[in-house]
Amino acid sequence: MCWIFAYNGDKNSIPLLVDGLKDLEYRGYDSAGLIGIKSDGEVFFKKAVGRVSSLATKVDADTNSKWDYSTGIAHTRWATHGIVNEENTHPHTSANERFYVVHNGIIENFKELKAKLEEKYTFYSQTDTEVIAKLIEDSFEWDLRSTLEEMMKTMVGAYSIAVVDRENPDTIVGIKLGSPMIVGEADDGVYISSDVNALSKVAHSYVTLEDYEMVVVKDKQYKIYSAGEMISKNVSEMDIEYDTGDMGNFSSFTEKEIFEIPEVLGNVFNGRINFEDKSIGNETLSELNEHDIQRIEIIASGSSYYAGLIGSYWFRDLAGIPVNVTISSEFLCDTFLPDDKALYVFLSQSGETADVRESLKIVKAKWCLTFGIVNVVGSTIARLADMGLYSHAWVEVWVASTKNVIAQVGIMLMMSLSMWLARDLQYSKARAIIEELGWLGDKIHEVLISTSHIHEVAKKYTQYSDMFVLGRNIFYPTAGEISLKCKELSYIHTENYSAGELKHGPLALIDPELPCLFVNPAGKHYVKTVSNIEEVRARSWVVLGFISKWDPRKDDLYTDTIELPDTSETMAPFTSLIAGYIFALYLAQELDRDVDKPKNLAKSVTVE
Ligand code: AGP
Repeated sequence: MCWIFAYNGDKNSIPLLVDGLKDLEYRGYDSAGLIGIKSDGEVFFKKAVGRVSSLATKVDADTNSKWDYSTGIAHTRWATHGIVNEENTHPHTSANERFYVVHNGIIENFKELKAKLEEKYTFYSQTDTEVIAKLIEDSFEWDLRSTLEEMMKTMVGAYSIAVVDRENPDTIVGIKLGSPMIVGEADDGVYISSDVNALSKVAHSYVTLEDYEMVVVKDKQYKIYSAGEMISKNVSEMDIEYDTGDMGNFSSFTEKEIFEIPEVLGNVFNGRINFEDKSIGNETLSELNEHDIQRIEIIASGSSYYAGLIGSYWFRDLAGIPVNVTISSEFLCDTFLPDDKALYVFLSQSGETADVRESLKIVKAKWCLTFGIVNVVGSTIARLADMGLYSHAWVEVWVASTKNVIAQVGIMLMMSLSMWLARDLQYSKARAIIEELGWLGDKIHEVLISTSHIHEVAKKYTQYSDMFVLGRNIFYPTAGEISLKCKELSYIHTENYSAGELKHGPLALIDPELPCLFVNPAGKHYVKTVSNIEEVRARSWVVLGFISKWDPRKDDLYTDTIELPDTSETMAPFTSLIAGYIFALYLAQELDRDVDKPKNLAKSVTVE
């Protein structure tokens, strides 16, 4: 999505803004822009379509960028209103070119606001953000703070907005509703960012703004206001290390993140599971077990949704708790029937996904128990949820979520085991699973060292423009997540169906040009899925099997196979997903896609 970065202090803001944008770029990369203001009001204003590197080239080519612009605001755009071009790129300006605005979010009533303003002003862009700039000019009386306070009553939607005023050149005002805004304190001045990661290299401490709060930065100091009153807030020490490092021997950062999975799983389980006595010793999970939970509702989007679906099988099968999983944007559209015996689980890597965040607010407003499984420490969803566990997947920078999905799935297995033990005392069965979890890292290594075979198979499948990705029971959402990753990275059109549903319609589409990828490792439904594969093979169509080494049909049933280490059914979603991620990655690489920044996407979806 769009992200903002701003600075006021002793240094020239221009190179700082460019560096800040580089750290935020994975969150939106349609275009980028910045404005710096000198203390005499003179501006340095640049925009560029495409990556931050295009903006950096333009900035470097203009020697004026070396002057001392003590204040500046900058933005990377993921287009919501208006095509990708320079006119629609932020910062946007008022007609008198006094106020400049960057914005992350959507102003839902921008059409009505624009219609009124059009009587007085000519608009150069199609964006909702230009409406904010014109509205500031139109409603400005004596200062920016009171103007924006009034505007917060008029604007409907979600936003974090930073504004500069050429007549008060050492000032930045920021407001927030929904979208994140963090203020960073540094020895040289004050920074504002949508993302704490981008502040970690420059600030020693930071403050997170809540909805309807405002920050006024002036002469290297800042004040925070709520409903017109100055407030004091907790300042957190910057203890986040954000460094994507270099790619090393990997062909993309996404590949590097996939290869971090064994260590990430170590982070997830160590300190929470005692592998010696095969018990789960985690305070949050013990506290959770004190609640009378009769039902679980999981709410998430994208890969986190598929992770939720995978976890739901364990909550039912192991802990015996009924579970429902809902896509967060659908949850928002549905009638919410609060249940005080339900646990509402929100899964989100970023902790900022707008649909998940808004769903959580609805549930909280009815006093129901909420639990977050979030990766980004201190993010909105992590702060709002009553309880939660961090997924500890380290910073996941690149657009495709991989290592965090595995961490989420690991956490839900651990939660299910803990709830199962608290309800049913099935010690020996639970211990067998915990024991196997202790070996999971080794099984994953087995997948990671078989990449050359997966690569060869992926090469072959680049010839297809469509593919079905199928599985049964827990392997149905496992296949769903693999399907999403293939689409997202390779742009091959994939469809996910339950294996049993194939003959209820989709089978009509299959022909030699449409292969079926079946995820069918050993498990209780293996034989039934084999029957579905037979139905496809009976017509001599192409089947790629993600199967266990053990599979007795591996030599006669499939066109191609990717063999997974032999494990219990409980461990197989982990190994299948990782093999699927590698397959999707190599499909994409062979098709020459930008694996780390797939087209049209952004890492953090902060608009509904
Ligand atoms: C995953 O590869 C996607 N890019 C996307 O589906 C993502 O999982 C989704 O937007 C949810 O994000 P979150 O986990 O940060 O809430």
